[in-house]
Amino acid sequence: MDQNRVYFFDTTLRDGEQTPGVSLQTPEKIEIAKGLVRLGIDVIEAGFPAASPGDFEAVQTIAREVKGATICALARANEKDVQKAIDALKDAERSRLHVFIAISELHMEYKLKMTRQEVLDKVKSVLAYAKGKVDEIEFSGEDAARSDLDFACQVFGVAIAGGATIINVPDTVGYMNPNEFGDKIRYIKEHTPGIENAIISVHCHDDLGLANANTLAAIKAGARQVEGTINGLGERAGNVAIEEVVMALKTRHEYFDDLQVNIDTKQFTKVSKLVSRLTGVVVPPNKPIVGSNAFAHESGIHQHGMMSNPETYEIMTPESVGAEKTDLVLGKHSGRHAFADHLAKLGFQSFTEEKINDLFAKFKELADRKKQVYDDDIIALVVDNLHHK
Ligand code: KIV
Ligand code: ZN
Repeated sequence: MDQNRVYFFDTTLRDGEQTPGVSLQTPEKIEIAKGLVRLGIDVIEAGFPAASPGDFEAVQTIAREVKGATICALARANEKDVQKAIDALKDAERSRLHVFIAISELHMEYKLKMTRQEVLDKVKSVLAYAKGKVDEIEFSGEDAARSDLDFACQVFGVAIAGGATIINVPDTVGYMNPNEFGDKIRYIKEHTPGIENAIISVHCHDDLGLANANTLAAIKAGARQVEGTINGLGERAGNVAIEEVVMALKTRHEYFDDLQVNIDTKQFTKVSKLVSRLTGVVVPPNKPIVGSNAFAHESGIHQHGMMSNPETYEIMTPESVGAEKTDLVLGKHSGRHAFADHLAKLGFQSFTEEKINDLFAKFKELADRKKQVYDDDIIALVVDNLHHK
């Protein structure tokens, strides 16, 4: 693994499918997985084979039919789950088993009813069972962000000794703040035995709207794999949105030490629409990167700036994420410049300045009544004005 590169692990088909109300059929999962390959995703978590026969079949079919990315399957830390995942991954071009067990005091006491020693023993035995049966093993300490850090380092050390080469640190309930999470990743990097032979991964949930900031802080601290989903789908408030992390790394590449990201960002809009259509989860218009307003400008001041130099109000181009070119939306905040420009685009090019002023005044009256003024409204306004003069 290259420490100068950030690897992307997509869990749209596993954690993303845990979005309330979302259930995907195998052909739909295949379509999404192929879209993720076109995007350049390194690892696709295809599902949780022990969860249901349908999940097993989906992972098996993806492993057989989708080439060009590592295919991963999730398993709890028990031999039955692990064997199911191994079986489902059998035909993958490259396979990854993802074993997890909770490591916070809260989860160990109330959910697992296990002691620290029992958890350590379990990790050791289950990895001994899995070793050599897949191409690579990832270990996740569920709720690691809220666990005792020295215990987390101890468990991660046992997992590495048992053959795990990817150590995932989930902020399972989206509880972290960026500086705090960055410090934890740094501590894990410094105190986990054998960590120099593994890659640190993070998996941030968005309960406080901090998933992207936490992920970026973790990368600054040395994490080199990011787990997330398209459109930020996932349990509760969702997982970190991969498109947001990638565009933050690319847009501010100098801040992130020019870390390499092998993602074809021009695919983002297409893959976002595909996931939205197949899951039925609508993308909010103001969603960064892929929302319909992400490159729309309404206020006159902004529109004027955009017409002089797009860099005044855009830090990335719509083309760079495969979106339609910038939309100067006409509304009550729009200025005369944008209005005149729009008239010309609609074919009304020979109006005098006085005429444009007159039409602009009428447009403002209309915009006060209507939230958004469409091309048909402007054409009607011009035609009406011509008839009455
Ligand atoms: O949020 C979480 O902790 C998970 C693990 C299974 C990685 O999804
Ligand atoms: Zn999760």
